Amino acid sequence: MDNTALENRVFNPPAEIAENANAKADIYEWAKKDRLGFWDAHAKELVTWFKPYDKILDDSNPPFYKWFVNGKLNVSYNCVDRHAKSNRRNKAAILYESEIGKKVCLTYGMLYREVNKFANVLAGLGVKKGDRVALYMPMIPEATVAMLACARIGAPHSLVFGGFSPESLRDRINDCGAKVLITSDGNFRRGKPFPLKENADKAMEDTPTIEKCIVVKNAENEVVMKEGRDLWYHELMATAANYYEPEVMDAEDMLFILYTSGTTGKPKGVVHTSGGYLVQTQATLKYVFDIKEDDVYWCTADIGWITGHSYVVYGPLALGTTVFMYDGTIDYPDKDRMWDMAERYGVTKFYTAPTAIRTWMKWGTEYVKKHDLSAIKILGSVGEPINPEAWMWYRENIGHGEAPIMDTWWQTETGAHMVTPLPGVTPLKPGTATVPFPGIEVDIVDENKNSVNEGYLVVKSPWPSMLRTVYGDDNRYIDQYWKKFGDFYFAGDGAKRDEMGYIWVTGRVDDVLNVSGHRLGTAEVESALVECEEVAEAAVVGKKHEVKGESVCAFVILKDGFEGSPELIEKLKKHVGVKIGPIAKPDDIIFTSSLPKTRSGKIMRRLLRDIAEGRAIGDVTTLADPGAMQEIAAKYAGKE
Ligand code: WT7
Repeated sequence: MDNTALENRVFNPPAEIAENANAKADIYEWAKKDRLGFWDAHAKELVTWFKPYDKILDDSNPPFYKWFVNGKLNVSYNCVDRHAKSNRRNKAAILYESEIGKKVCLTYGMLYREVNKFANVLAGLGVKKGDRVALYMPMIPEATVAMLACARIGAPHSLVFGGFSPESLRDRINDCGAKVLITSDGNFRRGKPFPLKENADKAMEDTPTIEKCIVVKNAENEVVMKEGRDLWYHELMATAANYYEPEVMDAEDMLFILYTSGTTGKPKGVVHTSGGYLVQTQATLKYVFDIKEDDVYWCTADIGWITGHSYVVYGPLALGTTVFMYDGTIDYPDKDRMWDMAERYGVTKFYTAPTAIRTWMKWGTEYVKKHDLSAIKILGSVGEPINPEAWMWYRENIGHGEAPIMDTWWQTETGAHMVTPLPGVTPLKPGTATVPFPGIEVDIVDENKNSVNEGYLVVKSPWPSMLRTVYGDDNRYIDQYWKKFGDFYFAGDGAKRDEMGYIWVTGRVDDVLNVSGHRLGTAEVESALVECEEVAEAAVVGKKHEVKGESVCAFVILKDGFEGSPELIEKLKKHVGVKIGPIAKPDDIIFTSSLPKTRSGKIMRRLLRDIAEGRAIGDVTTLADPGAMQEIAAKYAGKE
């Protein structure tokens, strides 16, 4: 990202897209002149309200903003009923393929039926408006059905990514006090069954609020069903009634909680509500991916992440789009699996992450060339900064040299795209997310809130799909996002502005790592490490990685009487994997006898990063013991 000044390749929108695009250039003018009017118009156009709202934005009690005040709606009604009752009834809502080749097509009519039935199942088990429901599921249509059924009842869901460990699942269930857990007997990963239910069982050993566990049969795994607690999805669905009256929800009623890593050891439950979220996810998808009636749209994100929530489930289904969903690894049975499916389903819009693009790049173009990807019109990227090389490769090989790439900057907390080009309007430069979405006010500021060309990325005014709080912890919400700049939202990212005014996001400025587009708190990994009996202290940093963006690098001080060894390194890595999940496993563990600390005891991770990435060690004058760095650097050099 140091070459922003050097990047002067500019790609104008293809004429064909520009002519017919949903968003024309004047959209910026409109939103600038009348920001609230812009959102008001989209709230009216894109959402079916049971009762209209009285006010667009209530900003009387910052940072607790309310959008579409007193409006009443139901999100599942917007995602299924209105399409099932229109000429989209027999249009495919979900096209699904599993790794082993199982195929499912659910039309909007069918999805409507499934969602209604499952809402009845949940209600039959005592789930009411306001109750929390946890989901620990593979990328299967039943996951979408379950999310929408929760929305129908008004029971906020909390999805936990299937790659997370039993302990992570347990902590998230306990934090939100979920009443029901929905899981599956498993799914396939590289041809081998993955035991989700076993993990769920381990988690449920210590989740006092869970009353029932619903299990979707998906992988023919042997599972233990606990009498009185565990129930099969297909058995419950067999007798469920066909219609469940959608709950009338307030625009500000909670739609879901999604946990994400922060700067402390404990993940935050990010709270999203109904009205504003449904407006902005749709508006962004409609314009950024230029969604048209005949699109086959594929976002590769897992539903366990915010990208899955906003752009696999709520945004596209509310717009009545055909969504393709794949559950499996990207190289099974071979490295062309993704392109094989993109060709067979005629995918027109494709949205993925830089880490995946770099993986495909490494594999070479032969796998792409085997397939006809000419249907692809627009590409998307999300999760981390995309390096210009990967951007060019993506455009050339997946976008046949002409499909515009939408590099979308946003976060779990923002709910929807914030900084992104528009395909028919914005000239593109490889590596930059370009400009704020219409109606979104983003800036780059210094410590004193002055607008500058390099500094902190902030959002200057509330936006419809913003998080409303941290579940059960309003203070943490204020501290984390609003303390630093008062009325500006602090995103935790650094950014630069180039001569065209484009925003280049450079990465996190807090103690959060981005490993393969997934957020990980250094504190989370550190606390997993210090749980091991051998470990006295640990400091974790992100180290630049060719494919993953960043990898986890841990500096560890052992307790007296223990010695570092390859076996101990393996043991510690494994422990972190079991404790948090495989994505958190350190690539490097370096034993040292001290860590660089300021006189007030704060670990200076910046210096550790210098060592891990092979740079000259930066300024050490604020260290309590400047000599410490020499030893650590020597230990690190010895490792390689
Ligand atoms: C963090 C948010 C938003 C869905 C996926 C991740 C980084 C995200 C970009 C981008 C540069 C990006 C930021 C952000 N990030 N998209 N296009 N360019 N950086 O959601 O787990 O909440 O992570 O991902 O650092 O703060 P998340």
